[in-house]
Amino acid sequence: MSVTVRVPAKVNVQLAVGPARPDGFHDLANVFLAVSLYDRVTATRAESLRVTCEGPDADQVPLDRTNLAARAAELLAARYGIAPDVHLHIAKDIPVAGGMAGGSADGAGALLACDALWGTGASRAELLDICAELGSDVPFSLVGGAALGTGRGEHLTELPLGGTFHWVFAVADGGLSTPAVYAEFDRLTPAAPAPAASPGLLDALRTGDTAALAGALANDLQPAALSLRPSLADTLAAGTAAGALAGIVSGSGPTTAFLVKDAEAARSVAAALVASGTCRTARTATSPAPGARIVPA
Ligand code: C5P
Repeated sequence: MSVTVRVPAKVNVQLAVGPARPDGFHDLANVFLAVSLYDRVTATRAESLRVTCEGPDADQVPLDRTNLAARAAELLAARYGIAPDVHLHIAKDIPVAGGMAGGSADGAGALLACDALWGTGASRAELLDICAELGSDVPFSLVGGAALGTGRGEHLTELPLGGTFHWVFAVADGGLSTPAVYAEFDRLTPAAPAPAASPGLLDALRTGDTAALAGALANDLQPAALSLRPSLADTLAAGTAAGALAGIVSGSGPTTAFLVKDAEAARSVAAALVASGTCRTARTATSPAPGARIVPA
């Protein structure tokens, strides 16, 4: 018997970052939007915990206990006093580059799949609790849609979405370390104000207004990501020159996200980004997208 869960990538349409807290994390106002690029995590009974991965970027995915899918199985099993004996297979379509929460998606996917496979019957609140323990972005991978994350990003308030948004993602070569980007943010921003969600941005999401959302996209980590990877400025310039309404570094990067008018614009901006030579590849996607869901057998 096995259980498969499909789980989406995300883009941060606003990432407001406050000063570093005593625990080293930063308080955020983090507006997440799920997008239609999905990983599938399949959990099958096995003799011991094992992770495998398939997909174009599979060689870049760690298969040891640092993989959030493995950690999710261990945390759930520990809570219910059972052995985490499961084979987790990840069919990876979310670019492995950073900034799209691909690792977080696999954590949330594995958690939901193991809960169903083992019949642990954890409540939604318990699952969200385990997600928060796995990482700041993991609860959103479970919830999907659109949500405001506060605290270190793990306390979610779901947000209404009034329309479809079209995106292009430019996938950079190599990663950017999230802690290094936050450290660079601290260096560049000695007195960060308390983070707050922008009312204009929340309105644009609620009304499905693409032009207004383009004007409101904001990421406080972008100067830090650009400081560590100056070439991302070339990618942002290539996307906007190709007709994107706006471009932004997604999360801590190095993936950049471009909001475009429609599906046709998405195709032409993606082609122009690839032709520009400023990224490894480009992917198109839409919002909204649902959170982690079991795929009917
Ligand atoms: O929670 P997660 O494992 O995704 O965080 C990775 C790193 O990102 C943390 O160790 C921390 O350096 C940084 N971070 C932060 N403030 C947040 C979220 C992440 O400083 N709200």
